[in-house]
Amino acid sequence: MERKTSYDVVVIGGGPGGYVAAIKAASRGASVALVEKERLGGTCLNWGCIPTKTLIANAELLRQIRRSEEYGISVGEVSFDFAKMTERKDRVVKGLRDGLRGLIESNGIAIFKGHGRFTGPNEIKVLGENNALLQAKATIVATGSEVRSMASFPFDWERVHSSTSILDLKRLPRRLVIIGGGVIGCEAASLYRLLGCEVVILEMLPLIISPEGEEVSRLLRAALEKEGIEIRTEVMVEGIDRTGDGISVRIKGEKPIVGDMALVAVGRKLNTDDVGLERAGVVVGLSGAIPVNERLETNIPGIYAIGDITGKYLLAHMASHQGIVAALNCTGERVNMDYRAVPSVIFTHPEVATVGYTLQRAKAAGYDAQVGRFPFQALGKSQAAIELDGFAQIVVDRKSGEILGAQVMGHEASLLIAEATLAIANELTVESVSDTIHAHPTLAESWLEAALLANDMPLHLPPRKPASKSLKEGGL
Ligand code: NAI
Repeated sequence: MERKTSYDVVVIGGGPGGYVAAIKAASRGASVALVEKERLGGTCLNWGCIPTKTLIANAELLRQIRRSEEYGISVGEVSFDFAKMTERKDRVVKGLRDGLRGLIESNGIAIFKGHGRFTGPNEIKVLGENNALLQAKATIVATGSEVRSMASFPFDWERVHSSTSILDLKRLPRRLVIIGGGVIGCEAASLYRLLGCEVVILEMLPLIISPEGEEVSRLLRAALEKEGIEIRTEVMVEGIDRTGDGISVRIKGEKPIVGDMALVAVGRKLNTDDVGLERAGVVVGLSGAIPVNERLETNIPGIYAIGDITGKYLLAHMASHQGIVAALNCTGERVNMDYRAVPSVIFTHPEVATVGYTLQRAKAAGYDAQVGRFPFQALGKSQAAIELDGFAQIVVDRKSGEILGAQVMGHEASLLIAEATLAIANELTVESVSDTIHAHPTLAESWLEAALLANDMPLHLPPRKPASKSLKEGGL
């Protein structure tokens, strides 16, 4: 039966953007309804970050066990049960989802299970398990994105997979052909390679993960190739045919590439076409993204948009942060978004993490920038842990000393990027990092060393110039 209820804030979409916005608004005393048509936690928890990182944790442990001889440990023949790995992944996801429901309910938020569509600027109709007509003083739209399919090579979810359907594999492919060398393509390549599959990446651009810039792309490519992944760039995929027991990928002007499964990871489609935005008068751009101001408000006062549909970054943590900003703005505060320090992590082996400007982009933006790069190989902790591949680098404005960006590749890059993000978010200088005591022996010392290098004052690497010429005022 249809019911009508009024709320201060209605949030459409229960992913990491929407549920965080709902909790924040509720914690500020607003009455909040959260509308979700599928599963709480959205893509990230159910079909993205969490299931993939659970499988990656399995694969990384397997890799460690396989190289145990390097540490003087003999373990004999190593085998694994892929079905058990996927069962663990499903348990982790379910446990987190159940916990999330409890958390949302403990904040007094009403959950409506169904598809939410605007019927007017202040009214949302929910159709599904719960039918309702909700009145909203403010609405936060957080409907995310979904897998993009290509007309010329559609999914069959059996041999031609999306990033969602591949998570339900019961057996590993022998040879996996991945179309798209973006974040999903590279993470999947790394995972399935660690699990022993042959992997080929086909990317139409000259670079894999091209938004990360040329240097990071080149270094990751070399690292993935070292792991045995075949990478072909500047290839135009024309179609995928099913063969006797596998697939054959047709490539323009070249011989087809065969495998027993394909993963198509060519970007995502923003979910803005079935939310009734036109009925609310909300403008949607040609790309499907919703233009918002710095407070995340759309062209209609009281309607906010957050997460993937703002078309800025398709990152869970970005959506959550935008959720907080939107929730504050629709509960009486005035807060602006700041996009200077958005970390991005690619969970390949090795991990890659970046924040802020690359050297190239800093120079293009007019900064007199320089870089300080410290290799993990020169760290005691890296030697102790036998994790020698990788580096941390800081991009600095020579004039002010401000840290503009940072890139790190290697063991625990996902953890290490936090320090650089904090530094950039707080407009810290290289001296703030080099004057800070870093615990020894840790990989985080690479930031201290990179900061010293950016000032031409290396400690654990030979000097680039005579020490007398590079001494600077201030700093320790
Ligand atoms: P993406 O935009 O990162 O990469 C897609 C790639 O496919 C591009 O390099 C593109 O040039 C290539 N491509 C497109 N059409 C092609 C064709 N016909 N043949 C060959 N290559 C083709 O998209 P992806 O990897 O699907 O990821 C979607 C989004 O999800 C991204 O924005 C990503 O940032 C986000 N994501 C983030 C993660 C993280 O932060 N760790 C993990 C997974 C996804």
